[in-house]
Formats: sequence, C-alpha cells, structure tokens
Amino acid sequence: MSVKNNIPALPISKQLTIGLFGFGVVGKGLYEVLQSTPALQASIKKVCIKNAGKKRSIGEEYFTTNADEILDDEEINVVVELIDDADAAYSIVKDALQKGKAVVSANKKMIAAHFEELLQLQFEHETAFLYEGSCCASIPIIRNLEEYYDNDLLSSVKGIVNGSTNFILTKIFEEGLSFKDALLQAQQLGFAESNPALDIEGHDAANKLSILLAHGFGTITKPTDILYSGITAIKESDAAIAKQKNLRIKLVATAQKINETQLAAFVLPQFVATDDELANVNNEFNGLITESSFADKHFFKGKGAGAYPTAAAVLSDIAALRYHYKYEYKKYLQQSGINLTNDFYLKVFVSAADINTIEKNEFEWIEEAHNEYNNSWVVGTIHAEKLFNNTWWKENGVSLILTEKPIVDNVDYKKIGKQSLALAGVV
Ligand SMILES: NC(=O)c1ccc[n+]([C@@H]2O[C@H](COP(=O)([O-])OP(=O)(O)OC[C@H]3O[C@@H](n4cnc5c(N)ncnc54)[C@H](OP(=O)(O)O)[C@@H]3O)[C@@H](O)[C@H]2O)c1
Repeated sequence: MSVKNNIPALPISKQLTIGLFGFGVVGKGLYEVLQSTPALQASIKKVCIKNAGKKRSIGEEYFTTNADEILDDEEINVVVELIDDADAAYSIVKDALQKGKAVVSANKKMIAAHFEELLQLQFEHETAFLYEGSCCASIPIIRNLEEYYDNDLLSSVKGIVNGSTNFILTKIFEEGLSFKDALLQAQQLGFAESNPALDIEGHDAANKLSILLAHGFGTITKPTDILYSGITAIKESDAAIAKQKNLRIKLVATAQKINETQLAAFVLPQFVATDDELANVNNEFNGLITESSFADKHFFKGKGAGAYPTAAAVLSDIAALRYHYKYEYKKYLQQSGINLTNDFYLKVFVSAADINTIEKNEFEWIEEAHNEYNNSWVVGTIHAEKLFNNTWWKENGVSLILTEKPIVDNVDYKKIGKQSLALAGVV
C-alpha cells in the first residue's frame, strides 16, 4: 500500500480566483508564468490597468480601468497588486484587505511606507498579505527570515538588494559603459523602476532593508530613518582606486546587531574584496549573507529583477495561499524586536575633486589622505549619526564609499581625541 494513502490531506483551498492590478513587466510575466502552471488551480479573472488604449498581448475582455470591478467581485478571493504607483497601490491593497481578500504585492515602496498599518489590517481582517517579490525578487528571503531564523540567533543580514544598480555598476566597471548607457540598458531590460531615481539614489534598497528588518529582527522602521545613499556620486577615479586595490564597488544594504538591544542599518556603496561572496554577484543578480550564532553564514544568490524572476516570487506567494500561509511577524509581536541606532562608527573612503568639500572635522580619525588636483580623498572613521544628520557627503561631487569591514568596533574616540587629523596633515 502506498504511504500516500495514510497521510491526511492538507487543508488546501479549492480555487484561487485572481484579480490582477498591473500588466507591465511583472504583471505580464505573472500571467505567462501562470499559463505554465495549471496544476496550481489559480486563474486570473480580471486585470486592472491604467491606460485603456494600450495594445495588450491578451484578449481585451480581461482588462478594465475600474478597480472596483475587481475589489467588489466576490468571486475574486486573491488580489495581486503589481502596479508602479505606490499611492494607488496602497489604496487598492487596503481596500482588498478590508474586504477580506488575500493580497500579494511586490511594491516595496508602498509596503515600507505603510508597514504597521498593513500589519494591523491583516490581523483585523484575518487575511493574508504576502510580498516575497518585494525584496530581492526571486530570492526567498522573507519567508526564510520569518520561518528559519530565530531572532536570538540572527546577528546580521547584508547584501545586494537592488538589481538595477548592481546591473549598472557591473556594466560600468566590467564593460566600461557610461552611467547613462548602463541605466538605459537596465530600463530596456525591465530591471529598473519606472522612476529610476528610486533605484540609483538608494531609496529602493532602503525600502527593502526596512522590510527585511521587520522580518529578520522584528524592528519596524520607516525607510527615512535608515542611513542611505545610492550610486550617483561614484566617480571614475573611485573605480580606478578600487581596481588598483583589487576591490569591487557594490551598493550594499547592511543590518547588523551591535549589541543585544541595538541594530545598525544602512545602505551605502561599499568596497568589496574579491574573495567576498558579494564580489561575484553581478548584473541584475542579488546576493544576501545572513549570519547567525550556530549556523554561522548562509549565502543566498538569485535574480533580483526582471519579469520572470519577480513573477516566480509572486507565484510562490499565490501557491502559499492555497495552504493558508500567512506571515506571523513573531519577532515583532513577541516584542523581541531590537531598536535601530546610529550610535556606531563607520570606516569610510570619501573622495572629491576639491579636498575642501570634504568635511574633515566631522571625522573622528583619519588614517590616509590624498590631495591632488581634481582627485582628493581621505580614509577615516566617522560617527554614523553625523552622516545621518548631514548631507555634505552626498553633495558637490563628494562620494562616500564604505571600506570592506565598515563597522568599527566600539572605540571611544572622545577619549582618543583627533590627533590623527594633524598627523595626516589635512587640518
Ligand atoms: N520590474 C522588476 O524587475 C521588479 C522587481 C521587483 C518588484 N517590482 C515591483 O513590481 C511592481 C510593478 O513593476 P513593473 O516593473 O511591472 O512596472 P511597469 O512595467 O511600469 O508596469 C506598471 C503597470 O501598472 C499599471 N498601473 C499603473 N498605475 C495604475 C493604477 N492606478 N491602476 C491600475 N494599474 C496601474 C500600468 O498600467 P498601463 O499598462 O496601462 O500603463 C502597468 O501595467 C512595482 O511595485 C515594482 O516596484 C518590479
């Protein structure tokens, strides 16, 4: 007799009837992926888009521009939100949850901005809201943080979480493309956000990091409370220094416990050694390294943008709804969440055409300084709060790149004083 006969059936929902919002890169990708997975018993009943006049690859009977045709349809039990307008997405998702529909989204900007309220709505209306595609597209990081890592054990999560900036950096440094051409390619391939500033100025990575903080550490925070920048200020001379030192430059998101109750979190460009796992995460790929007390290190790598990789994560969420999966937010609800702090020191490389645009007095310690016409830089230690509260390091062509091991162990610079500045001959 087969073992199968003795196993009780799983409590699986019969049919998932989907109302899809958005038929762009990811929405159309999801439609195609669903065509190849009939066993899932999930079908799209209606698609709500913005521009009625656009030519579509499937029958026009699917489409509407009236959101209520989906939201008021009682047969539709799953709303999949894949639009590029975070404000409209928020009202769609809120309405759908209030009507008791399960919701799947990949809209990190919207999720990060309204995290607490969306959490409340899920509990109030006892319905599921899943969003694996919002962080690192095809890498199943949210479910791993939720299910696998116990809060006490996880000490850090860091990695490359934005596919388009990683694509741009790879094209510039490995293939010699200009920034403009690399961005254009990322847009043509469907990796970039409709508003590319979200990617290149680091907002998208900060949104993702804030979602990862909630699931990884139970820390709910607005992305604007995170120290971050993007890749727009990185210069050719920075790339030349990286090459000389056999390093790569990557936009890295980091969340690291600095003690039992406090967490450092930031998204900044960083020099990465060639033997670091992140050095070989190229193009639209994302990579994440988790560190925990007993398992030590895990490295996740996968496509972080594009139609099918993102649709794959959305599909996995839809499949999870069939067995009534919900995020439990245990770490947040057990109040084991730890607080975000900027009370730590970072070792940074800061370059500028004119050394006077580098605020040297903001540093606690300068260990290297170079002053040449059109190419000046310093390497030193700076308090994270000073970066968070000031913008000089993002302006006037100043570029700030973290060193390979950026968090400096707690040194009391107040006691040491600033003699190093004089030693470096720059003040
Ligand atoms: N592309 C990626 O690699 C990727 C990866 C991870 C997550 N995401 C996220 O996935 C979402 C969709 O991204 P995408 O790249 O697929 O965007 P996209 O290609 O620009 O498509 C956006 C779609 O949203 C529709 N739309 C915009 N406003 C709407 C509204 N108010 N009501 C109904 N439909 C509306 C548009 O309609 P029209 O077709 O009529 O213009 C279009 O079909 C975004 O939240 C994005 O951050 C994307």
